[in-house]
Amino acid sequence: MSTPKRYTVTSALPYANGALHLGHLAGAYLPADIFVRYLRLKGKDVVWVCGSDEHGAAITIRAKKEGIAPQAIIDKYHALNKQSFEDLGISFDIYHRTSAELHHQTAQDFFKHLYEKGDEFIEETNDQYYDEEFNQFLADRYIVGTCPKCSHPEAYGDQCENCGSDLSPTELINPKSTLSKKTPVLRSTTHWYFKLDKHTEWMKEWIENGQLNGEQHHDPKAWKNHVLGQCLSWLNDLRPRAITRDLDWGIKVPVEGAEGKVLYVWFDAPIGYISATKQWAADNGKDWKDYWQSDDAELIHFIGKDNIVFHCIVFPAMLKAHGDYILPTNVPANQFLNFEGRKFSKSKGWGIEMHQYLEEFKDFPNKEDALRYTLIRNMPETKDADFKWDEFTEFHDNELVANLGNFINRVIVLTNKYYDGVVPEAIDNETAATALTSVKTVIEELCSELDKYNFRNAILKLMELSSIGNTYLQDVSPWKIWKTEPDSQVVKNCIHNCIQIVGFLSVVCEPFLPFSSEKIRSLLNLPKVENGDLTKVLDLFQTQQSLIPAGHQIGEPALLFAKINDRKDTSRKELIEQQKANLQAILDAEVPAHEPVKDTASFEDFTKLDIRTGTIIEAEKIKKTKKLLKLTIDIGFENRTIVSGLAEHYKPEDLVGQEVVLLVNLAPRKLKGVESQGMVLTAENTKGELCLISPKEVFGNGFVVK
Ligand code: MF3
Ligand code: ZN
Repeated sequence: MSTPKRYTVTSALPYANGALHLGHLAGAYLPADIFVRYLRLKGKDVVWVCGSDEHGAAITIRAKKEGIAPQAIIDKYHALNKQSFEDLGISFDIYHRTSAELHHQTAQDFFKHLYEKGDEFIEETNDQYYDEEFNQFLADRYIVGTCPKCSHPEAYGDQCENCGSDLSPTELINPKSTLSKKTPVLRSTTHWYFKLDKHTEWMKEWIENGQLNGEQHHDPKAWKNHVLGQCLSWLNDLRPRAITRDLDWGIKVPVEGAEGKVLYVWFDAPIGYISATKQWAADNGKDWKDYWQSDDAELIHFIGKDNIVFHCIVFPAMLKAHGDYILPTNVPANQFLNFEGRKFSKSKGWGIEMHQYLEEFKDFPNKEDALRYTLIRNMPETKDADFKWDEFTEFHDNELVANLGNFINRVIVLTNKYYDGVVPEAIDNETAATALTSVKTVIEELCSELDKYNFRNAILKLMELSSIGNTYLQDVSPWKIWKTEPDSQVVKNCIHNCIQIVGFLSVVCEPFLPFSSEKIRSLLNLPKVENGDLTKVLDLFQTQQSLIPAGHQIGEPALLFAKINDRKDTSRKELIEQQKANLQAILDAEVPAHEPVKDTASFEDFTKLDIRTGTIIEAEKIKKTKKLLKLTIDIGFENRTIVSGLAEHYKPEDLVGQEVVLLVNLAPRKLKGVESQGMVLTAENTKGELCLISPKEVFGNGFVVK
């Protein structure tokens, strides 16, 4: 565990079969972007790879259903996601794709290498379900049937979501293919299984103690609890995992007799990190092996929690089995982000996709950083978080505008007003000692939070910096002095120091708010921040030199952010209100979930119920109740008194003459002093209104319903 010379950072390769939403962004991309930008600012040698995951059954099935080629789907979403990332400042060094020839080659070589070792795979022939109409074997998720344990009619081939049992597809009663909806047939097929169980021992040492090959590889305490927790529960029961599939879309299994088979998507996708690095290295005159096969490189995987087992267990086992590769030193997986209290759902329209945000907020000033800020401020680091538009507004107006933006704006305005934008010289600069020392401490704290992947804490430190600036400016209040003493050295010192703090902010905010950083730099009339700039800042603290020297000409004032709750310009507030209204419309249109079917009733149970037709002949409200009506109903051979909860739904006078259906042998019971001798049948509609069930045409009273 020495200081690494190089960093290899990866973010989960998103499937190229849909647009990514804010939850994805906050999960595996934004935190990695902050981390990598931070490393670059410290002048580190780092490569950050990502790209589209373009194989897997989900893509082929979608293509079949839509009657288009898988290639058309992946081309569309690869381009869309790549563009959205770029527009939001997600600064991958390469955004590759797993359909690339280089990747196919790399993944096949990896497979062959393990295959030729002779002891990593098992070859096994089994019966599996096959859809004869779609001509393909069915992955477990594509088979539904009745659960053998609880009789839930829609259990999946691998699990029943009603009772939670783990299932195998052949256990399902009356299995159906979700593709053709037909009954699948069993066919025999051969697959390769990766002997994961074989890796249990060293893996336990590695995950529990951070030990690898008898040496300390990483500090296990640096891993997040929820990540370790998932790993430990998996480690108790590692089993061989199938790494091939019968599909025609994917990477061909490079073994004789494996025609029609491809590598399982979860086998090839993580190898995509390696192929992406190879491509990047080739494009940039580097050696990819320095980043994957050298002990002085450190590998870090950024992912969402649903990918933990693949990145902490399966892929490391593959890398170790291969023998030439380094293993990850950390997998700082995030939990999930919800959206206004619910899961993101494309089909329900709940949530917002990256490209959609960019489009709908196209006129919103500094929209990229406004979004990045909210997502970082409330990042799902250790538990699930919730994105709320009200919070977006609050963070934006109270923190970005009122704190950060306000400080910078005041400093730029004052410098222009007092000194025509030329940074004044500081002499006997005593306040610098206090203001700049706390700035230094906070910057160091911020770095240490970033070292620990605590992005929420880190961004609070960033805000603390501008708070220090604001407080300092307020304490000195140069505007009071300047009025009577425009040449005051106290004012010059104060502005000089504030300009330094703005300069620090322009560097330190870059990992979080890269667009603002660029804007601040142009306010300061400085070029964009460069690799290594943070190290320079930290060094300046040692030598006590100014970051921005006296005599430097800064730029004109301009606002970094524009308040949402602005009295003069209500357009931004309206935009947010519109977002909230869209969600409300979804809620309003929602059909309530159907009530679950009750326990089976026998025929005898049913025949006990005596249900008949009748006509309401009198109806009146029962006093002192809101809901109850007293009905008198003619059932042919007698009249019945029935108390019914219809008062909020019908006027008594409208009910007289109405034909109804009622249960006549219900045991009588007293309600508000009235004995009710039966029950009128009703149903509740989507608006929550009770409606009487009546015969379709005039029917007559006393006929039995059966
Ligand atoms: N495509 C997968 C998902 O979206 C992630 C793949 S990560 C990789 O869940 F490591 F396999 F690349
Ligand atoms: Zn079940």
